[in-house]
Amino acid sequence: MELIEAIKSRKSIRGYKSTPVPKEILAEILEIATRAPSSLNTQPWEFTVLGGGVLDDLKNALEQQFLARAEPYPDFRPESLMPLTGIYRRRQVELAIELYQLLGISREDKEKRDQWMLKQLRAFDAPNVIIVSLDEAISSSPIAMFNLGAVTQTIALLAVNFGLGTCIQGALVYYPDIVRRITGIPQSKKLATGIAIGYPDWDFPANKLQSTREPLANIVTWRGI
Ligand SMILES: Cc1cc2nc3c(=O)[nH]c(=O)nc-3n(C[C@H](O)[C@H](O)[C@H](O)COP(=O)(O)O)c2cc1C
Repeated sequence: MELIEAIKSRKSIRGYKSTPVPKEILAEILEIATRAPSSLNTQPWEFTVLGGGVLDDLKNALEQQFLARAEPYPDFRPESLMPLTGIYRRRQVELAIELYQLLGISREDKEKRDQWMLKQLRAFDAPNVIIVSLDEAISSSPIAMFNLGAVTQTIALLAVNFGLGTCIQGALVYYPDIVRRITGIPQSKKLATGIAIGYPDWDFPANKLQSTREPLANIVTWRGI
């Protein structure tokens, strides 16, 4: 598949078929993705690939946390847990409005919103999840997180090549101790994100979403060109 086509067609997939992704394909994706660049070639990324009963256990445990109204305590505090302002808030709200419209969930419908959060914590029913982590020895470096971003996007693009969809999901590591307990990831590893991965269910309404982007004129400054 053409690179440009893969970049343009990648988008967050929030509804999946139940067919598991073959282990060889997941391994190939990760193998190629580690060609991603990293500062000083530190390659700080580590992956824990989940499927089958282990993933079911994790989905159930995360669901329990939400139902118990447990306060999220991610290793890295994401924007979703802080009050955004200005253009960032505007983009966040725009995304939420479009998504909830597609799903037919109104602002006041707390029950349906809760159900959507539960689906989110069940990795949108994806048959596989990749937990992206890094060792605590390097986890205080913002650049290490930058490197994890590079490899994560590379995984998402490679997935497109194999007819797969992904959703990078900070929400999957909202309760890191639960993830560690069920997956065996040691305490010394900090959890950056989860990636839901699987074959897209194109009939699922949320998958119709085409998120917007700021026009180039608003974000690029040209000098001497
Ligand atoms: C670090 C990171 C964390 C994210 N966490 C979530 C999440 O928890 N739930 C979710 O539905 N989408 C999550 N997303 C997906 C973004 O909402 C999505 O990338 C953005 O709206 C742009 O849409 P697109 O991926 O379809 O182009 C996350 C993306 C990134 C990069």
